[in-house]
Amino acid sequence: MFKLSRNDLCWCGSGQKYKKCHLEKDNLLKKYKLEGYRIPSKNLIKTDIQIEGIKKSGDLTSRILDMLGEYICEGITTNEIDEKVYRFTIENGGIPATLNYKGFPKSSCTSVNDVICHGIPDETVLGSGDIINVDITTILDGYYSDSSRMYTIGEISDEAQRLVTTAKECLETGINSIQPYESLNNQGIAIERHADENGFSVVRDLGGHGIGMEFHQEPHVHHFDTSENNMILVPGMVFTIEPMINEGMFFARLMDDGWTVKTVDGGLSAQWEHTIVVTETGAEILT
Ligand code: MF3
Ligand code: CO
Ligand code: CO
Repeated sequence: MFKLSRNDLCWCGSGQKYKKCHLEKDNLLKKYKLEGYRIPSKNLIKTDIQIEGIKKSGDLTSRILDMLGEYICEGITTNEIDEKVYRFTIENGGIPATLNYKGFPKSSCTSVNDVICHGIPDETVLGSGDIINVDITTILDGYYSDSSRMYTIGEISDEAQRLVTTAKECLETGINSIQPYESLNNQGIAIERHADENGFSVVRDLGGHGIGMEFHQEPHVHHFDTSENNMILVPGMVFTIEPMINEGMFFARLMDDGWTVKTVDGGLSAQWEHTIVVTETGAEILT
């Protein structure tokens, strides 16, 4: 790496002297590195133009999920939800990122009851008491955004409602824990604590991911306390937070279709997801 002097112009293009701009932050990152943390490589830090692009994509993803809020009801099939997603996405200039992604056949993931994630839309009819996660990833002008929400059908049990609410709170507390120049693990600690306090568990085999000009990038985001979340966050990093919260044990099992992931114990699972960007003061939600 080249070496900047204190009085040189900062590398970031602010026009300020290095000592008044990024010098202190760079030194902090060096210190973290010596302590064994990973520092994000340049391609994980998005430019303002790229962040704008991801945000526009995120707006569309969010509008799709809003639209589904009006549409999803008792008696419809997950295929019908998927067809709606496909049409709405295309009509608004987007491309569903999951369609033909590594062989995934649909424009959305629909995960009902004990399905943790990556459920494939089919002829399953939604009935009263069901909970469903719909996960949407949209490509707009080459930019990816990824978000998911839970929808409840008819009358659901108090326990199911508590799970859905707790999973949403886990996402919120995870996002609120994000701080630049601090560890990615903050969100893992916060999410695991909130799930624990409510008697639920956090899925360990799947997590969030960097995103932007690709679907999945570094870092992998574990939603529980682990030394594998050892990346330091820097403004401009874009990634998803998408905790999967189980009613019972955290164990997950992949079904024979190669996609659908279910709870091993048959308990319910709930998930909410946002794409976020790390800012100078915390995180901004892009979806
Ligand atoms: N949107 C999912 C995520 O949050 C990924 C779906 S990939 C698929 O990472 F192939 F299963 F659709
Ligand atoms: Co997703
Ligand atoms: Co995701």
